[in-house]
Amino acid sequence: MGHSVRSCVLGMRIGRQIGLPVEEQADLYYTLLLKDAGCSSNASRLFHILNADEIRAKRDVKTTDWTRVGWESLHYALTHVATGAPFLERVRRLFQVAATQQRDSCDLVKIRCERGSYIAKQLGFSESVAAGIHSLDEHWNGRGYPGGLRKTEIPIFARIVNLAQTLDVFLTARGPTDAIDAARRRSGRWFDPDLVHAAVSLADSGALWEGLEKQELLNEVAALEPEQRRLTATEDTIDNICVALAEVIDAKSPFTYRHSNGVAEAALEIARWFGMSPREMKLLRRAALLHDVGKLSVSNAILEKPGKLAADEWKVVRDHPYYTLEILKRTPGFETICEDAAAHHERLDGSGYWRGWDTDQLSFAARILAVADVFDALHAKRPYRDSLPLEKVFAMLREDAPRALDLPCVEALIAAKTNSEPAAFAQPEVVYSME
Ligand SMILES: [Fe+2]
Ligand SMILES: [Fe+2]
Repeated sequence: MGHSVRSCVLGMRIGRQIGLPVEEQADLYYTLLLKDAGCSSNASRLFHILNADEIRAKRDVKTTDWTRVGWESLHYALTHVATGAPFLERVRRLFQVAATQQRDSCDLVKIRCERGSYIAKQLGFSESVAAGIHSLDEHWNGRGYPGGLRKTEIPIFARIVNLAQTLDVFLTARGPTDAIDAARRRSGRWFDPDLVHAAVSLADSGALWEGLEKQELLNEVAALEPEQRRLTATEDTIDNICVALAEVIDAKSPFTYRHSNGVAEAALEIARWFGMSPREMKLLRRAALLHDVGKLSVSNAILEKPGKLAADEWKVVRDHPYYTLEILKRTPGFETICEDAAAHHERLDGSGYWRGWDTDQLSFAARILAVADVFDALHAKRPYRDSLPLEKVFAMLREDAPRALDLPCVEALIAAKTNSEPAAFAQPEVVYSME
């Protein structure tokens, strides 16, 4: 938690230290903040290659010098490949991973880079931001991915981001001394020596790490945006950000392809039946697009597990709406939607998660989201099954209403989907509001 924010502060400090012009600092700023925008897109692939927790593997790959064959990379493989499997199966997977490592690493980085730079462009950022994100896993000696670019062929933003993110991972895992040691050891191989030099002199004067542990770092990072190039978010830009984030969320697993958009569509259909105001619909759509942002915290080893989840895995799944709340509540403008978004798995009878809220606590928007979420989960096509027929989905929704799901919302959705009048619930008895 906080990795991108800390990496941004570190990278901006290094950028200033090397005298990067102010106009370029603005692009560096956004490259640092958006560096991992494509990260979710290779999570599933990485999980299938390693057959183990890909979130832990991604974190540890930065503290492991995998470009050198030796104890470090062997240790990495032993602790990250098929970790839950029996011994012989692990040995088999290890050989497989070793045989295809080069190609797989390149593919994985390529998927992430392309996706990340595509998202940056979609959000309206400059070509230099997109190029910086695209090249952030290139190494100074030409042995990085995906292009094998060397030295100054690698965009300066990418060089700074790569160093900054590695410094932060080491800082968090092992402390500042190890972080600087790692940068020094990899200088001239992974990193631009001039940048390492700049980081070392900042560290020597104490300016590199200053204040990184502060709770308010997020506010401070906002102040780092160069004033001359400050971007202002309009209502439309905020909508675009939600759409882009929905893509990031849905890319995490093939099981959730288009899920966030599907939930948004269904939620709006219900809202229209109740004559919700355009402003409320706008907020509801944003809440729907972002409701599963907390899922990025769940490993694909769990999301794509074919069998029943163990108790500790289920706990991780149950926590995803909590992370939705934690992520959204920090973002100015999303305070109004964060609670509704984080309540999408709550049920009227208190049987939902993560807080076990019930009728009294669930807003109209939260009830709509719950119905829309179940509808899309059941109706969407999944890699392992075709989409369920609508009649079956409707029957399953009705089975859960009014006990767990809001009956007027269920009937409104069915009416909207079938172009018919909702039999018993043409007018809801309760007048709901978003307050
Ligand atoms: Fe969810
Ligand atoms: Fe969902």
